[in-house]
Amino acid sequence: MVFDWIWLIPAFILGLVVGLFVAGALAARRLAEAHADNNKLKEMALSVKGPAHARETNNKLLIPPPMIGDQTAAKWAMTHYAGRPTLGAGYADDPQYGVWFEITKKMYAAGAGDLGVFRHFQFKDLAALERKFTAMLFMLLDVGIREKTVAKLAEVHKDLDITPREYAVVINALYSILQEYKMPQNVLDTVAKAGAALKPVIVRSASVA
Ligand code: HEM
Repeated sequence: MVFDWIWLIPAFILGLVVGLFVAGALAARRLAEAHADNNKLKEMALSVKGPAHARETNNKLLIPPPMIGDQTAAKWAMTHYAGRPTLGAGYADDPQYGVWFEITKKMYAAGAGDLGVFRHFQFKDLAALERKFTAMLFMLLDVGIREKTVAKLAEVHKDLDITPREYAVVINALYSILQEYKMPQNVLDTVAKAGAALKPVIVRSASVA
């Protein structure tokens, strides 16, 4: 009688082992598939953006932003000059760029006094250019200038036929205005450095006066 059902025990154990093996194999296959999908997604993401390291080296930081204490000069100036009483008189303030917008407007006003410089801006949207230049100045003093920005500036100015003299008028005007505002020396140095670095890509030919 006992022998009638005793064979059920090894059969049950065998069934359990086979069941576990099949379940394990299925789970392993699903894991491998998920892993492959994940790798494919990663590859796709990398092919679009490139690895973080490559992105960094493809767009090298050429001029780092000057620091005032633990703040970038761009941000420091926003609060430092917030209560300025007289220098900003007559110039509409900009909530986003504060004193930098004011400085840019003064630079364009000084540039317009020179006929050579003025000819370039005759048919341009000056208000838009002032905002773009302000954003560029803020970028220089907040995150610095990278290779791709220099390439972009070269592209934008390449057909403008700007002479070295005209370039000097604009950069010198900016530098004197920054001095007038008593900007820290490292801000003046960074602007001078950017002015020198950008000259060959903005001016039509360094050999023509
Ligand atoms: C370091 C010096 C300079 C910087 C950083 C600079 C920056 C810029 C920027 C950000 C723009 C806007 C580009 C865009 O539309 O996306 C621009 C356009 C322009 N810049 Fe400059 N600029 C510089 C020097 C000069 C000088 C010296 C002149 C002329 C004397 C000049 C004349 C112009 C003109 C005419 C445009 C308008 C181009 C167009 O709309 O076709 N720039 N510049």
